[in-house]
Amino acid sequence: MTRYVGAIDQGTTGTRFIVFDHGGQVVATAYERHEQHYPEPGWVEHDPVEIWENTRTVIGAALSRAGIEPDRLAALGVTNQRETTLLWDADTGTPVHDAIVWQDRRTTERVEELREEGWADTIRERTGLEADAYFSATKAEWLLENADPIKLQRSRPADVRDRAEAGEVLFGTVDSWLVWKLTGNHVTDVTNASRTMLYNVRECEWDDELLAEFGVPRAMLPEVRPSSDEETYGTTDPDGFLGEAVPVAGALGDQQAALFGQTCFDAGDAKNTYGTGSFVLMNTGTEAVESDHGLLTTIGFQRSGEPVQYALEGSIFITGAAVEWLEDVELVDDPAQTEEIARRVDGTDGVYLVPAFTGLGAPHWDQRARGTIVGMTRGTRKPHIVRAALEAIAYQTRDVTEAMEADAGIDLTSLRVDGGAVKNNFLCSLQADVLGTDIVRPEVDETTALGAAYAAGLAVGYWKSLAELRDNWQVDREFPPEADPAAMDARYERWGDAVECAKGWADD
Ligand code: G3P
Repeated sequence: MTRYVGAIDQGTTGTRFIVFDHGGQVVATAYERHEQHYPEPGWVEHDPVEIWENTRTVIGAALSRAGIEPDRLAALGVTNQRETTLLWDADTGTPVHDAIVWQDRRTTERVEELREEGWADTIRERTGLEADAYFSATKAEWLLENADPIKLQRSRPADVRDRAEAGEVLFGTVDSWLVWKLTGNHVTDVTNASRTMLYNVRECEWDDELLAEFGVPRAMLPEVRPSSDEETYGTTDPDGFLGEAVPVAGALGDQQAALFGQTCFDAGDAKNTYGTGSFVLMNTGTEAVESDHGLLTTIGFQRSGEPVQYALEGSIFITGAAVEWLEDVELVDDPAQTEEIARRVDGTDGVYLVPAFTGLGAPHWDQRARGTIVGMTRGTRKPHIVRAALEAIAYQTRDVTEAMEADAGIDLTSLRVDGGAVKNNFLCSLQADVLGTDIVRPEVDETTALGAAYAAGLAVGYWKSLAELRDNWQVDREFPPEADPAAMDARYERWGDAVECAKGWADD
């Protein structure tokens, strides 16, 4: 009987389920988008119930499309948009509020207060993160203070915090929520824990002092487990929607999952994933390398019984979302058109678009930066703006790879890429030119889901070794740099000036 591994990829804009075979090839897939809620400028929320319903739908749809019975699934893995935070009632499973999404900026002032109070160094030393509203800690604090107890649907209108202290209200990132819905167990994996700003990545434990500062009770936290866990996180309920006890055995934040799916298992291996944002991660082995150039120190993955593997991360908040914005303002009808439109001009004629719609992440960390277009003239046309949006993706990547090279003391000679936007050959060539580095696109570009499947499959013995996974990885196409490096350097310098214009803009 042929067996498979399934991966739930719960991203910022939608949820995908992919079934992989032993060769790491996609056998079946289904996808559902979910609503984005913007209750106030700078706020972004998702409905956790909608996300769970979509998860059920895509699992069912992919399996039935391929005619695969659930008993053919050797394991399930989960990968997810990271940092997005939610609280739910442990008895009823009712979320106390919509999830606060990683892009949400409502806690900007709180973070500024933390920086003023001198917390930034402690946070960096212990969690590897920059003090920023991006991470879960201030989102959890906001929810504990502002979530409406009525929503808990209890006769006793107790405070949400009181109930959290009693373990009756649970905290989780999206992995935790889905694993809890699938298995009934409250766990998270080390990679997701490392994005909360509550977890000490060196000691690998929740940090009491940070928990106290943010008023997050320990009783509401999930147990932290390896990303690939031989014990498994639990099994699906045979009386539940799959009708089968399938082990849920792997979970990783989506960027770490892509690192794993790209088989970046050794120190020095790096990848860039182009999704809503772009996230460059470099494996640094068992050493937690501290960044002097605005990158994050984060956990890359952990297998059962093995030490944690760390990564340096350059988190760029908006890349693919800049292309979505072109669609929103009707400059393009479809993201696929951007390649053809951008090719209509040789350059942007000095136009730069800095898509700092939700502030700037690595290496700038400016919460008040906002989207900016500079250099327009009366002759500026649609193709210049479209091209400037694509160039911004490539320049932002150079911002973080330069920081990475400086931190790690190495020259990046090639970069593995994945995510929706790498289907765009123009972008891949441009990226190679801007970095002066080979860009390598693998055959299977669903590396995020693949990483989660690998983590789960390794845990249950479906795959036996990392070597087997390396053999599955195949190049689709390599893009060597072709442009004149001096010309690219000059344009990149102007990009730096444009970024300065975007900084510090928001005053609310
Ligand atoms: O840190 C945020 C990241 O995990 C979101 O990824 O692919 O959903 O945009 P994506």
